[in-house]
Amino acid sequence: MSNPSRNLHLQQVVDRAIAIQPSRRQLMKIGLGAASLPFLGMLSGCLGGGDDPVEQMLGFQGIPTATGDSVLVPAGYVATAFLPWGEPINANAPAWKPDASNTAAEQELQVGDNHDGIEFFGFNAAGNGFGNRSDEGLLVFNHEYINPEYFYAPGSNPDDWLQPFTLEKARKGQAGHGVTIAHIRRRADGMWEHVKTSPYNRRIHGNTPVSIQGPAAGHPLMRTAADPAGTMVLGTLNNCGAGRTPWGTYLTCEENFNGYFGWNGDRTPTALERRYGITKGGFGYLWHTVDPRFDVNANPNEPNRFGWVVEIDPFDPNARPVKRTALGRFKHENAAVSIGPDGRVVVYMGCDERNEYIYKFVSSGKFDAANPTSAANRRLLEQGTLYVARFDAGPVAGDRMGSGVWIPLLPGTVGLDGKPLRENPNFAAATDAEVLALIMIKARQAADAVGATMMDRPEWVTVNPKNPGNVYVTLTNNNRRGTTPASSNNPDGSSSAGSARPPVDEANPRSNNLWGHIVRWTEAGNDPAATTFTWDIFVLAGQPSVTGERAPSSNINANNLFNSPDGLMFDGFGRLWIQTDGSFSNTGDYAGMGNNQMLAADPVTKEIRRFLVGPSGCEVTGVTWTPDRKTMFVNIQHPGELGSHPNRPKNPDGSTWSDNQIARDPTRFSQWPTQGARPRSATVVIRRTDGGVIGG
Ligand code: FEO
Ligand code: CA
Ligand code: CA
Repeated sequence: MSNPSRNLHLQQVVDRAIAIQPSRRQLMKIGLGAASLPFLGMLSGCLGGGDDPVEQMLGFQGIPTATGDSVLVPAGYVATAFLPWGEPINANAPAWKPDASNTAAEQELQVGDNHDGIEFFGFNAAGNGFGNRSDEGLLVFNHEYINPEYFYAPGSNPDDWLQPFTLEKARKGQAGHGVTIAHIRRRADGMWEHVKTSPYNRRIHGNTPVSIQGPAAGHPLMRTAADPAGTMVLGTLNNCGAGRTPWGTYLTCEENFNGYFGWNGDRTPTALERRYGITKGGFGYLWHTVDPRFDVNANPNEPNRFGWVVEIDPFDPNARPVKRTALGRFKHENAAVSIGPDGRVVVYMGCDERNEYIYKFVSSGKFDAANPTSAANRRLLEQGTLYVARFDAGPVAGDRMGSGVWIPLLPGTVGLDGKPLRENPNFAAATDAEVLALIMIKARQAADAVGATMMDRPEWVTVNPKNPGNVYVTLTNNNRRGTTPASSNNPDGSSSAGSARPPVDEANPRSNNLWGHIVRWTEAGNDPAATTFTWDIFVLAGQPSVTGERAPSSNINANNLFNSPDGLMFDGFGRLWIQTDGSFSNTGDYAGMGNNQMLAADPVTKEIRRFLVGPSGCEVTGVTWTPDRKTMFVNIQHPGELGSHPNRPKNPDGSTWSDNQIARDPTRFSQWPTQGARPRSATVVIRRTDGGVIGG
């Protein structure tokens, strides 16, 4: 199938057509008779990616792994860092200080830390709203968390750089989270610049007012002393993956929100708190020690106001972001939007923790394609049905493919106990509206109760642009799968987050799944709103030398090794981009995998090639394109994380440097992206030197 002409081989076109629409198979087998020709004509136009008819699925040379401190891309491409942590958000904002001494107030006017999900929204022709331009638009991206060892200038305690911990430090940390909206423009030389004088430049952070809307808004569990109505919260936190709607809004997803909460004094956590991982010390951010909002003893309902998908209108700098509670509360990775044939909007979502679930929201209303930015379209995420996935073995046992069911999380849905959810003590309430509010707030427990399939840490979901009902999900890894003693998430909600030890199943077929895999499904009738589907496994990552139950799939070889697929995104051509957030130790189970990376895959042939290698200690996460796909934006998160990187600084006894040590010598390990400065998360702008489409 090698094709030096760069033209699509006719057989490739046929294969893709069959894959996209299996019912065409018989037609294709008959031959390229008159009946099939009009279809092929339409198809080749659609596969051509617009103005580049010679585009091919993997039109670049894969690159080797690396363990160095730079971003590597294939020959013929250039990669340039852009908008790193601390960059002033506008012309009036203060400069970033290389010693990390900027204040909280200054951080609120600077790009946040730990870049993650990202979307480019082109301007319209007039330059005053959402459109399809590829030369100017709004780059919107998440800031998932902070790395305290690099984020704060060291304090006076020689043994703990973070001490004394103050409210000012908590506020700075909160300001480092959230979302950046940056107006950007392509220059004549192909490089991109930040339009610093633009009124669209904006930071949304951990103290920005955010509305709460949907079934859970106003429920007693959502009310606090500061917000007795339960309809407005300060901030969005742990903004992991993202999504976009066809009406021009951005979806930012709150993932590990639990890590910011803790308690002072004694507390016996509730089942709800245990199920979502609220613990006394959280992840060590210390906010609860200085800011009562994050002390669960002082504000027991504040955690319930996080763990949602937040909708943001980037084109209205005054619009308040909105938490859409109809999409459920869990540790949201990203939000992949699809439109069904009847116009209903579907949002696919993973809950990223070991043994958690895959969900989808189906809107009650229908998308008006003729008026994409209409007021009615902009309300489509207000109301609908939340479903959770059950992956069944299907007609053939042991073939690692099967069928599946979407189970609605509604008051009348019958659970494993034979009773409707409204009779389950976790959700019992006077009215079904209140039952539904509890189902949304306790979505994990509702999914437990109806027997959803525990997955190997669902990360990003993405929809094939050639088929709105063909969906892929990364399952990053799960070191508790198939380990003993076997256990599951208790339907009463009492399982501590991540603690279950489910046996292997067909969709999660490897015990101690260190390397992760990608599952895909096709909805019945290719309709994303359908309630049944068929699924198979696209790739099992790992080591080709491993055989037996834990072997990788046959599309893994010595040239494309990786572990822990996380970011996942189709481009408009139908090329599947895979990003990793796994072990960069490059030894043992991870030998030959190098730094975290990004690969591209052909969804039909399943071929995978490595496209990018990130710098030391980073994860690669979040990717978006200009509409012409001639510029790609990729986020590099937390360069300089020591982990078990082969080049990390060590003490004479061989132990890895502590956070206290690296905080006091922050250029010792990584200086990406600015030589001589501490490492910083940043966006990378990737272009082809010949101006072509990325990957083609
Ligand atoms: Fe924020 Fe699951 O990665
Ligand atoms: Ca099967
Ligand atoms: Ca991720």
